[in-house]
Amino acid sequence: MTEGVPRRAAPGDGEAVRSCLEAGFSSRYDDARAASVLAALGEGASLVVEHGALVVGALVAHEVELTLPCLDGMRARCVSDLAVRPTHRRRGVLRALMGAALGQAHEQGEAIAVLGASEAGIYPRFGWGAATHTASYRVDRRSASLLASARPSPGTVALLEPGPASAVLPAVLDAARRRRAGEISRRPDAWPEVLAAGGDRQSAPCRFVAAYLDGGQVEGYALYEVRGAGEERREVVLVECATTGDAAYVALFGYLVGIDLTDALRTGERPVDEPVRHLLDDPRALETVGTSDGAWLRLIDARTCLERRGYSAAGRVVLEVHDATCPWNEGRWSIETDADGETDVTATTDPAEIELGASELAALYLGGTRATSLRSAGRVLEHERGAALRLDTLLYCDPVPFCTAL
Ligand SMILES: CC(C)(COP(=O)(O)OP(=O)(O)OC[C@H]1O[C@@H](n2cnc3c(N)ncnc32)[C@H](O)[C@@H]1OP(=O)(O)O)[C@@H](O)C(=O)NCCC(=O)NCCS
Repeated sequence: MTEGVPRRAAPGDGEAVRSCLEAGFSSRYDDARAASVLAALGEGASLVVEHGALVVGALVAHEVELTLPCLDGMRARCVSDLAVRPTHRRRGVLRALMGAALGQAHEQGEAIAVLGASEAGIYPRFGWGAATHTASYRVDRRSASLLASARPSPGTVALLEPGPASAVLPAVLDAARRRRAGEISRRPDAWPEVLAAGGDRQSAPCRFVAAYLDGGQVEGYALYEVRGAGEERREVVLVECATTGDAAYVALFGYLVGIDLTDALRTGERPVDEPVRHLLDDPRALETVGTSDGAWLRLIDARTCLERRGYSAAGRVVLEVHDATCPWNEGRWSIETDADGETDVTATTDPAEIELGASELAALYLGGTRATSLRSAGRVLEHERGAALRLDTLLYCDPVPFCTAL
């Protein structure tokens, strides 16, 4: 018996999909995670592949809003979970799921999709590109103190209990995500998993929520744990931080590096332009301990995507796009923007200035990857001298794209 063609998954497939994902990732889904998958199945964008009655591959997707470089929001399809049973790998199940998912999304008028990749080698072949990047940091508390000039914050930092935290954090993240390209909305049913500490009750570290309040408004939060006990080195581990203004950012990082009885502040994945470095008396107290890719994008309808984003300069560039998985994107496209921010993206027969694949276009889309870097790496071809730099000038995005809620 061979694997069937992908079919749409429904909530009734919940247990079968959970079993496939658990086998695929070799880990158990806790109830909060399983509930989030079940809720996504209700949206009708998820797919399964069966072998007989057994679900052997599952792609779970739901709708989110993605912030574009102009800070407008665009509807995006987010692939949250994707796995093939270890017993059914390398037989084309992922390829079938991906082809069906992109085809279905295109038919339904979706222009863009987003995911977080478990391995960076899987998705470029399907036209996905890493559009945001992350860094994780360690701040040595022994040499870390805030610059005297660090702006005194008008508000206060308070610790929130889980109940109030779950009531206020979603609105803060929702406001914060609109301030940076690459951010996506988070579904309400995903919050319990974010707020719950991992591990069992005995071994789980304490998870705290520090909130920054000004005039009764919560303008930012830092979700953190304190790890290590007894003689062990204790570290503050920042799980997630979202702020709607600079005062909240300064106050929360000041708070985190000031927690007594800890040796260091260690962050999870954060933006590559994290400002905390510039808040420290001794910038060397901060060490970048890792970097990675963040949000991977797939431009399902490249023309719509290119039309919808804002550009940072007036100009024109002609791209030749190759896209085997979504062939409607193939061809030569002129992007022309004027000083008022009006953009025209049209098919053209003019000579191509830049030639690139769908994966490279997706990587460039938010301005988080440079065309000049991809040119140096041979990933884009520059047919007109200076065109890659011109494209970078058009695509430039500040602040650097980042995605908190993947
Ligand atoms: C990654 C995974 C989904 C691939 O599924 P699969 O059904 O074995 O993949 P396919 O047989 O359809 O392979 C499609 C292509 O991807 C390639 N590929 C598959 N897994 C890959 C990997 N981990 N790294 C790089 N390439 C990979 C295959 O070689 C094949 O390439 P080709 O067609 O150009 O020759 C599966 O191995 C899995 O479930 N892994 C564990 C969970 C996971 O990592 N999920 C991804 C979450 S983002």
